[in-house]
Amino acid sequence: MGKERKRVLSGIQATGNLHIGNYIGALRQFIGLQDGYDCHFFVADLHAITVPQDPKEYASRIRNAVNIHLACGLDPDKITLFRQSDVPAHAELAWLLNTIATMGELKRMTQFKDKAGGKAEASLGVGLFDYPVLMAADILLYQADLVPVGEDQKQHIELTRDLAERFNRRFGKTFRVPKPMIPKLGARVMGLDDPSAKMSKSAETEGSRIELTDPEDVVRRKVSRAVTDSGSDITSGKDKPAVSNLLTIMSTLSGDGVPTLEKRFSGKGYKEFKEALADVIVTTLRPIQRTLEELEGNPSYVDEVLEKGAAKARPEAEKTLAAAKSAMGL
Ligand code: AMP
Ligand code: TRP
Repeated sequence: MGKERKRVLSGIQATGNLHIGNYIGALRQFIGLQDGYDCHFFVADLHAITVPQDPKEYASRIRNAVNIHLACGLDPDKITLFRQSDVPAHAELAWLLNTIATMGELKRMTQFKDKAGGKAEASLGVGLFDYPVLMAADILLYQADLVPVGEDQKQHIELTRDLAERFNRRFGKTFRVPKPMIPKLGARVMGLDDPSAKMSKSAETEGSRIELTDPEDVVRRKVSRAVTDSGSDITSGKDKPAVSNLLTIMSTLSGDGVPTLEKRFSGKGYKEFKEALADVIVTTLRPIQRTLEELEGNPSYVDEVLEKGAAKARPEAEKTLAAAKSAMGL
């Protein structure tokens, strides 16, 4: 018998507009892990309702997020792919963890501060505040060893570790303490129109992100309008945040190292570089979009994948939940 494979778990919110930041920071990592690890990936539809969602559109957004996971190359025969709300144990464990999490630690979460966007605290949703506790429940329920995410989620995983250790100390060893898995390059892809802000689903300006469903002409237009830095060298460095970001995108998608790209574009202009970058992005997105179209035409296949995923995830989650309840005397 070989050694047991390590358990990997990650989620992506069902908020639509998945972009190349999500691909580079998260989905691309997932694909590379599915052969060597016991992988669980899910669409975080309970997290995404911490900001308003239109109920008429929400089901199709969730479905679109699932389809994108599959279209990027995740193989449902190798991994467990499911919808968070199909496994009630997530919400129940979040409640148990709420009783050991503190207001102080949740108030320190930078994502909460960003999403609050300076609004008066009294008007903010409790769900938004509690978001990281639900995320801790997601992870701990499956006894995950590793959590592949972009840089912005690191703080949430540190909180998850703190809550797991606190619970284990107080009530007896129940949870495995997980570690984040953050890519060396591309953990924080920045906006194309503003290299000081991360590429996000919610940025008002669409020119800031390239969505995985953007058609070729839109990709080319967005790349051609991407901001650059002063000077004309195509090199990476602290004083060149915009070009560094473009080089990171090109490197992660093409597999060529940044120094190789710097050499290739030495003495060349931004126009040539941007055209080559747009080519790389279009080449990455083309097969994803093709598969996405096929999946959209085959909803019963995706239903089956989700049913199978939930049927696998549910008993695993219930087992940990039962252990946590029993440890607490429930
Ligand atoms: P979200 O869209 O917030 O659910 O994020 C899904 C995954 O994508 C998480 O692992 C994030 O850390 C990752 N991610 C989101 N935005 C970026 C970005 N701009 N660069 C790199 N990774 C990102
Ligand atoms: N909070 C994550 C994000 O916004 C999504 C998420 C929810 C997640 N639950 C998770 C990621 C569990 C990793 C593990 O990106």
